[in-house]
Amino acid sequence: MSAEPTRWAWAVVDLDAYAHNVALLRTMVAPSGVWTVVKADAYGHGAVPIARAALEAGADGLCVAITAEAIELREAGVDAPILVFSEQPGEEIADIVQFGFIPTVYRLDYLTALAAEVRRVGAEALPVHLKVDTGMHRVGAEPDEVSSLVAHIASNADALRLTGVYTHFAAADTPEHPANRLQSERFAAVIDALRPLADGVAVHAVNSAGAMSMPAERRTFVRAGIATYGIIPGDGVVEHCASLRPVLSLHARVSRVQRIGAGEGVSYGHRFVTDKPTTIATLPIGYADGVPRRLWSEGGAVLIGGKRRRITGVVTMDQMMVDCGDDPVVVGDEAVLIGRQGDEQIRSEDWARALDTIGYEITCGIGPRVPRVYARSV
Ligand SMILES: Cc1ncc(COP(=O)(O)O)c(C=O)c1O
Repeated sequence: MSAEPTRWAWAVVDLDAYAHNVALLRTMVAPSGVWTVVKADAYGHGAVPIARAALEAGADGLCVAITAEAIELREAGVDAPILVFSEQPGEEIADIVQFGFIPTVYRLDYLTALAAEVRRVGAEALPVHLKVDTGMHRVGAEPDEVSSLVAHIASNADALRLTGVYTHFAAADTPEHPANRLQSERFAAVIDALRPLADGVAVHAVNSAGAMSMPAERRTFVRAGIATYGIIPGDGVVEHCASLRPVLSLHARVSRVQRIGAGEGVSYGHRFVTDKPTTIATLPIGYADGVPRRLWSEGGAVLIGGKRRRITGVVTMDQMMVDCGDDPVVVGDEAVLIGRQGDEQIRSEDWARALDTIGYEITCGIGPRVPRVYARSV
C-alpha cells in the first residue's frame, strides 16, 4: 500500500481490486465489450487513475457525463474513445470537436451545430452515438424520431458519422420490473428498423446491473460503472456480485480521546447522552468530507482496534465522535469508516442501506478534501 497522506482522513483506492472487477465483467459479458463509466470523478474514486487502470485492464472505451470530465482525461494523456452521456451546452461544442470526444446526440439542432463546427474547423467526420429514450424519460430521442435523425446524420456524412445507437434502462437493478421488458421491446424495434446497420455502428443498452441480469442486452458493449468499483448495483443482482472486490476504503486517525461520565451529552444539540462512563474518540472527518450528518442516528459505526464503535452524536462538518467504551484507544489510532479492519467490514452498501440511498451516492459524496491514496493490493 502507498504512503498515507498527512491529513488524518483519507481514502484508499485499490487499483488492483478495480482491475479485478473490470476483468471479471469482461469475462462475464464476452464477446461483448466493456466501456467503463468514470463520470463524477469515477464515482469519487479519481477519474484519471481509474481511467488509466480501466484501459490497462482491457476496457474498450470510457464514459463521462460532462465535457469538463472528458477534457480532464484527454489533458492527462488518456487517448481512448470517450463517450459523453448527454448533449452538452452549445458553448462546449468546439471542445468536443477539437478533442474528438464522442457526443451523445438526440436533437436535430444539436446535430446541426456539431456539423457546423466540424466544417468550420475542417475536422474529420465526428463519430456520434444516438441515444434513444425507450422509457427512462431522462434524455434521448423518442423512438419515432430515430429514423429522421439517422437520415440527418447520413446526409451530413462529411461532418458526422453514426458509430453508436443506445438506450438506458430505468430498472435494470430490479430484473423482474415490467419496465425492463417494455424498454427491451422498444429498443429492439428501433434497432430492427435501422437494419442493416452499417459496419462499425455499436449498439449498447445496459449498465452494471443490466449486464448481469439481462444477458440478451449486452449487445456490442456494456457501460459498467458501479460494479467496477466493487459496489453491488442493487438487491436484485446480488447473486452476480460475489466475486466483486470493493475498491474504495475510507480511513481516519483518532485525533482526541476523552473519558467522560454518565449523563454527558456529545456533539451538537447533545442528542446523544452517555448512560455510563465511557471513552469518546474524535475523528477529524465530517459531513463536509462525505460522512452524512445523520449516519449516527441510523446505527452508523466505525472500526477501531478491529471492533465496531458506534457514532455518538451528530456528525459535524469536520469531525465526529465515536464511543469506545472501556477499551484503550489513543490519539493516532486508525479508524476505518468504510473497509476492513481485522475480521470486521463496513461497506458503502451498509451506509447506503442505513441512509435509504445507494452505494453510488456514498462514494460520489466523499469530498475533494479527502486525499485519495492509490494502492495496489497484491
Ligand atoms: C447512461 C448511463 N449508462 C451507464 C451508466 C453506468 O451505470 P452503473 O454505474 O449502474 O453501471 C450510467 C450511470 O449512471 C449512465 O447514466
